[in-house]
Amino acid sequence: MAKSPHILKTKVGIIGGGPAGLMLSHLLAKTGIENIVVEMRDHETIRNTHRAGILEAQAVSMLTDSGVDSRVLTDGDEHAGIDLRFNGESHPLDFRELVDATVTLYAQNEVFVDLSAARQRDQGDVRYGCEVTEILDMDTSTPKFRFTDAQGNQFEVHADVIVGADGSRSFARRQMPQTLCQDFKVTYPFAWFGILTEAPKSAPELIYANSPHGFALISQRSENVQRMYFQCDPNEDVNAWSDDRIWAELQQRVDGPDNFQLKTGPIFDKTVLGFRSFVREPLSHGRMFLIGDAGHTVPPTGAKGLNLAFADVKVLFEALDSFFSTGSDKLLEGYSDLALKRVWKAQNFSYWMTSMLHTPVGGDPFMAKRALGELETVTSSRFGQQYLAESYTGWPHA
Ligand code: DHB
Repeated sequence: MAKSPHILKTKVGIIGGGPAGLMLSHLLAKTGIENIVVEMRDHETIRNTHRAGILEAQAVSMLTDSGVDSRVLTDGDEHAGIDLRFNGESHPLDFRELVDATVTLYAQNEVFVDLSAARQRDQGDVRYGCEVTEILDMDTSTPKFRFTDAQGNQFEVHADVIVGADGSRSFARRQMPQTLCQDFKVTYPFAWFGILTEAPKSAPELIYANSPHGFALISQRSENVQRMYFQCDPNEDVNAWSDDRIWAELQQRVDGPDNFQLKTGPIFDKTVLGFRSFVREPLSHGRMFLIGDAGHTVPPTGAKGLNLAFADVKVLFEALDSFFSTGSDKLLEGYSDLALKRVWKAQNFSYWMTSMLHTPVGGDPFMAKRALGELETVTSSRFGQQYLAESYTGWPHA
């Protein structure tokens, strides 16, 4: 006879220990709301997963004000703008001057490292390498989930609320009744080829380049490590790209009469990043709530993914705090509608930045020229610049 699972009782059972799940766990714990985090991947894998690197000021505050760590302030790099480069020319946008806001360049894996260390410091219950196999009774007041840990031991978490924070391929999302939800999605005919290189900075801030050869993004990680991306085919094989070939491709996408030259160096990481816009509505069913990529995915242009996940965390945390302190589930019931307002603004922004900066696949000359017309409109107007700056630096949290 199969052994019955060990029962773990808690208030909030969080499926997924990436930045969204850990941030929520941290805020709940600080308020005295007991929670357990269960993550499928191991710590090392998440730590070495390279994602975007731009944090809105509000995301930075969530880390510093809640006492996660202030490393984001010392090791992060505050950026007051970006450069939109097209027709071989630079068009700097000064966010500080336009909307009195800045962003911080701090890699998502560093955010994970800080959050994970904070949960360990505060003796949080975070378990890596655990596979969630079943979610039960999510439409009752006693939802549960089962998981198997790395040693094969079986557990059943009994909670008041379950949160799905398990990323774009979310298991939690797939357990919601399909007939009661709707998925909205866009697929794109391109992807990004991302590299990490040991080289000096090519520019003080980020360059988003539209070129006839395709989009390129020149970003950074530190004084001597840089992050860059270029638009590629979704099925591109990274092994077919030597360092020389990558540098030639990137350079031709930023070439211009100003003779701007990338600073090159050895490339030590190459990955193809898929593109997708996706939203699940609603973001909840009964006592289960989705946050971050589990509920919605944006294409990477504009780096909204993690920022949006943190905005979800803020809304859900406040709803949970109210639920556990007053017993009223009014805010929990409003979570999905409130979070979705920002989700759709970010979907629009990410789609807009993507379509304006990428080269249409199939080489439709009208669409390519139209995008240049849009870039010209945005950069030649103060209103246009402010619209982009306000969205990029992040609308106020709900
Ligand atoms: C980075 C990634 C993005 O998608 C973006 O818009 C800006 C920066 C990055 O990895 O640095």
